[in-house]
Amino acid sequence: MTLFEQQASEFTRRHIGPNEQDTKRMLKKIGVNSLNELIDQTVPASIRMSKPLNLPSAMSEHEYLKHIKEISLKNKVFANYIGQGYYDTIIPSVILRNVFENPGWYTQYTPYQAEISQGRLESLLNFQTMVSDLTALPIANASLLDEATAAAEAMTMFFNTMNKQDHIERPKFFVDREIFPQTKDVLMTRANPIGIEISEGDFKTAEIDSTYFGAIVQYPNDKGSIEDFRNFITKVHEAGAFVVMATDLLALILLTPPGELGADVAVGSAQRFGVPLGYGGPHAAFFSAKEDFKRSIPGRIIGISIDAQGNRALRMALQTREQHIKREKATSNICTAQALLANMAAMYAVYHGPDGLKNIAARIAMLTQTVADAIKERGFELVSENFFDTIVIKTKDVAAIKAKAERQHINLRHIDNNHIGISLDETTDVAHLYDLINCFENDKDPVAFDIHQDDELNHIPSALTRTSSYLTHPVFNIHHSESQMMRYIKQLENKDLSLNTSMISLGSCTMKLNAASEMMPLSWRQWSMMHPFAPASQTEGYQYIIDELSKYLCEITAFDACSLQPNSGAQGEYAGLLTIKSFHESRGDHHRKVMLIPISAHGTNPASAVMAGMKVVVVKALDNGYIDVEDLKSKASQYSNELAGIMITYPSTYGVYEETVKEITEIVHQFGGQVYMDGANMNAQVGLTAPGLIGADVCHLNLHKTFAIPHGGGGPGMGPICVKKHLAKHLPGHSSDRPGLTSNSQSDGDRQTGAVSAAPYGSASILLISYGYIRMLGNEGVKAATEYAILNANYMRAKLEGHYDVLYTNNNGQCAHEFIVDLRPFKKSAEVEAEDVAKRLIDYGFHAPTMSFPVPGTIMIEPTESEDKAELDRFCDALLSIHEEIKALQEGKADKKDNALKNAPHTQSVVTADEWKHSYSRQQAAFPLYYVTQNKFWPAVARVNNTHGDRNLICTCEPIESYMEAEA
Ligand SMILES: Cc1ncc(COP(=O)(O)O)c(C=O)c1O
Repeated sequence: MTLFEQQASEFTRRHIGPNEQDTKRMLKKIGVNSLNELIDQTVPASIRMSKPLNLPSAMSEHEYLKHIKEISLKNKVFANYIGQGYYDTIIPSVILRNVFENPGWYTQYTPYQAEISQGRLESLLNFQTMVSDLTALPIANASLLDEATAAAEAMTMFFNTMNKQDHIERPKFFVDREIFPQTKDVLMTRANPIGIEISEGDFKTAEIDSTYFGAIVQYPNDKGSIEDFRNFITKVHEAGAFVVMATDLLALILLTPPGELGADVAVGSAQRFGVPLGYGGPHAAFFSAKEDFKRSIPGRIIGISIDAQGNRALRMALQTREQHIKREKATSNICTAQALLANMAAMYAVYHGPDGLKNIAARIAMLTQTVADAIKERGFELVSENFFDTIVIKTKDVAAIKAKAERQHINLRHIDNNHIGISLDETTDVAHLYDLINCFENDKDPVAFDIHQDDELNHIPSALTRTSSYLTHPVFNIHHSESQMMRYIKQLENKDLSLNTSMISLGSCTMKLNAASEMMPLSWRQWSMMHPFAPASQTEGYQYIIDELSKYLCEITAFDACSLQPNSGAQGEYAGLLTIKSFHESRGDHHRKVMLIPISAHGTNPASAVMAGMKVVVVKALDNGYIDVEDLKSKASQYSNELAGIMITYPSTYGVYEETVKEITEIVHQFGGQVYMDGANMNAQVGLTAPGLIGADVCHLNLHKTFAIPHGGGGPGMGPICVKKHLAKHLPGHSSDRPGLTSNSQSDGDRQTGAVSAAPYGSASILLISYGYIRMLGNEGVKAATEYAILNANYMRAKLEGHYDVLYTNNNGQCAHEFIVDLRPFKKSAEVEAEDVAKRLIDYGFHAPTMSFPVPGTIMIEPTESEDKAELDRFCDALLSIHEEIKALQEGKADKKDNALKNAPHTQSVVTADEWKHSYSRQQAAFPLYYVTQNKFWPAVARVNNTHGDRNLICTCEPIESYMEAEA
C-alpha cells in the first residue's frame, strides 16, 4: 500500500478492532488458515456476491470532514417561521456538549439491564414526569417516534379498547380538519389496513354517535388557533368514545392542559425542548393517558421499583418487550423509540425549570402578539384571534409576500393561495420582527412597531389560561446553574454502562463503534437547523445525502429503490409489509393477507404484520434452528390463495446462514407470495451476500445497527426499506412536496402507500452517520467490517466452546456474526439461571448479551467487528470465570442460595459495608479478575425487583416526601 492508500484506508483500521497479528491468532484459534477460508466455511456459496460492491472507495477522516462540510454548504439556513410541528430551539450548550455530543449518553443501549442504566432511567422518568405534568394526565411513556405516529398509536389503542379483533362494532374515528397535514397522512395510512374508517370534519359541527370509537383534535390547531374543546370532549364521551389531543408542550405552559379539559390521551412532539430540527428528526414524541390505559399504552414506560437491598431502583415496566411475549397480540410494534432525544428534552426542562420555561413561552406569545398586531395594522386579517405562537394571515398576495420573505432569507408557511402562516419560536428576537413585519409592509414606509412587554397576553382566551402548577418536583428546580447541570448530567452518565466503558455484545443489536467523525457534523447548523418543510431549493445538501445514501443502500441490498422514511426497524417492517399489500392489491389480489412468520422471528415481525392488516401464520423451526421447509411448504400450499408472503430474518435470529434460504424464497414465490427480509442481521451480509441475492423482494435496514447510528439508550434509529423494482411504486409517499416523494393525495393514481412517518425522510439528520460510515470505510471497508464481525463471533465461539454449549452452528461448525450460548443446563445442575449470569457479568464490568431471545434461558453474543482481541479476551475470561463459579456450585463447593451469582450485581455500598456475611469474599464479589481492578464499573443499584414495580406502578418522579421517608 502506498502512503496515500494507507491514509485513505485509515478509518477501516480504526473502525475494525483486530490488527493483522491478532487476526492470525484468532484464525488459528478457530482452526482456519485465512479470513477467506472462514468466510467460505460460513456463508453458503450459492448466495455469495460475485462482484465487489459498486461503492466509492474509502476516505480518510480528515478528507471526509472536509467533504461533508462542502456538502453542508449546499443547504441554505433561513429563519424558519414554518412551524407545523417543527420549531427552531436553543439547545443549551451544557446539554449539547454533555448529552448530544457525548458517547457516555449516545452509545447506550435500551435499559434492559436496569442495574447499569439508572442514569438514563432517571432522565426518562423526568421526561415522563414533565409530560405528565404539562398535559395533566397521570401516565406518560418514555417517548415514541414522532407526533404523527404517536397520534396513530392513540387511535389504534382506542380502537382495540373498543373493538374485539373479529367483531368491529365501532369502526369510526373522527379527525378534526385542523390537525397537522402530516398527522392526517399517517393516520390514514394506519387506519385503512385494520378497518378503521376515518371521518374528517369540523369538531364544532361533528355528529359523534355510537359508531365512533374516538376522535382527534389539535391544541393549538394547525392554524395556530386555540379552541375550547370541552363541549366536544363531553359530546364524544357521551357517545362512549375517547378523545386524543395532539398538543404542544410549550403552549401548555400557558394553556389549560388536555387532562383538565377531559381528554383521554395527549400526544405531540417534544422537539422544541432543545432538540435540533435536523430536517425532520430525530425528535421524541410524547404520549400521556388517563390511568385506565396504563396496561395498553404503547412503547416503554419507566417505573419505580426496589432493588435486592430494598433501595429505590428504576426499570422499564409492564409493556417492556411486550411484542416478544404477546407477538401478534401486542399493543404496538414499538421497540426502538427516541430515548436520547427524550433525555435531551427532559434535561431542557430540568435546566430551565418551570419559571424559565414560562419565560420562554410568555416571550414567544408576546412577540407573536406584537407581530399579529403589526400585521393587522397593515390591513391584514387573521384566521383566528386566539393564538399562542402561530398566526395565519388571509391575503391575496401570497406570492408577493413569499418572494419578499425569501429575499430576506425567511421561510413563512405557504398554506394555500389565500393563507400564509407564521410560527415564532424561542430563537425569535426583536430584531427578527423587523424583517418579519417587513414582509407585510409596503416598500415605502420604514418598518415600525410597538412592543408592549408588560401587556397581558390577550390572545390567550381567559377560559383556557393555565392555572395549575407544573414541574414542582425538586429535580426541575435545583439544577439551574451550569455547574449544577453539568454535574447532574455527569452523575447520571456515571451510573450507566456505555460503549465508552466496555463492549456491549447484544445479539441482534450490533453495538458497533459510532465514530466521532460520523457524529460531529450533526451539530453543524447547516444540518441541524433545516426545517423538514423548507423549500427544496434550500435543502440541496440533504438531497445529495438522501440520493447518495439511497443509491448505496440499493447497491448493498441488490435492490432497486429505497425509502428513507421509517424511523425504526419495526416501522420499516410495517412500511415494507404495506408495500407488499399495495402490490397485491394493485393486481386485484385484495385477499392476499396471510403472512408466514417463523417461530424464531423477532416479536416486532408479527406485531407489524397485524398493523398492516395481515393474518399471522407461524412456521415451525427444526432442532438445528433452521426454518422447517416441509412445514413451510405445507402452510404455503394450504394458504396458497391468501398468501401475502413470508417474513424471514437472514442470517436467522439463531445466528446461522441457512443454506435452504433460496429454496424458502422460491417456495413462497411459487405460491404467489412476496418475501420480506428483516435486515437486523445485515451486519453479516454487507459485501458478502445481499437480500436481493437470497430471493427477497423487500427488506428493512436498521441503520442504528449495521450502519453505525448509535442506539442512544433506546433510540433514535432509522429503518429504511429497499425493494425490487416491481415494488418501487408502492413505497411510502408523503403529503409534503418533496423531491423523489409522491404526494398521497387521492388524485395521485400511481403512489398507493401513504406516509408512515411525520417527516418525509424520517430522522433525516442521522442519515449523515450512515453516509459517513459508508464513505469512510469505502467499498472494501464495509465488506471487511462484515468479515471481521464473523471472525470476532467465531473467535469467541471457539474460546467458549467446551465450557458452554453453543447452540446452532452450520455444517462446518461456524456461526454467523453472533451465536447463542445455552445456560439452561445450569438451572438443574447449579440452580443458576440466565439472569444470574447476566447480572454477574456486571460485576466483571460488562453489559449482558441479549437475554432469552430467540431461545429462553440463553444469551446471544454479538461482538461486532469494532472490538479488538484484547476486549474479546476479557469478555471470554469473564464468562470462563463465571463458568468456574458455576462449577463450584455444581460440585457443592459453594452455597446454592448465597453465592456471587445469585447476589449479583454487587454495589459499592454492599461490598464496603461494615458487615459482610456471605460465604465468598468481598474481593470475589467485586474484583473477581485482575483486569477488573484496572477499570471497575460499579452498578448503581443491586438486582432490581421487577414484579414489585409492576404491582405498584409509579411512573413519574415521586413526591419529595418519599425521598425524605427513605432517608429517615
Ligand atoms: C431481528 C430484529 N427485528 C426487528 C427489530 C426491531 O428493530 P427496531 O428496534 O429498530 O424497531 C429488532 C431489534 O432489535 C431485531 O433484533
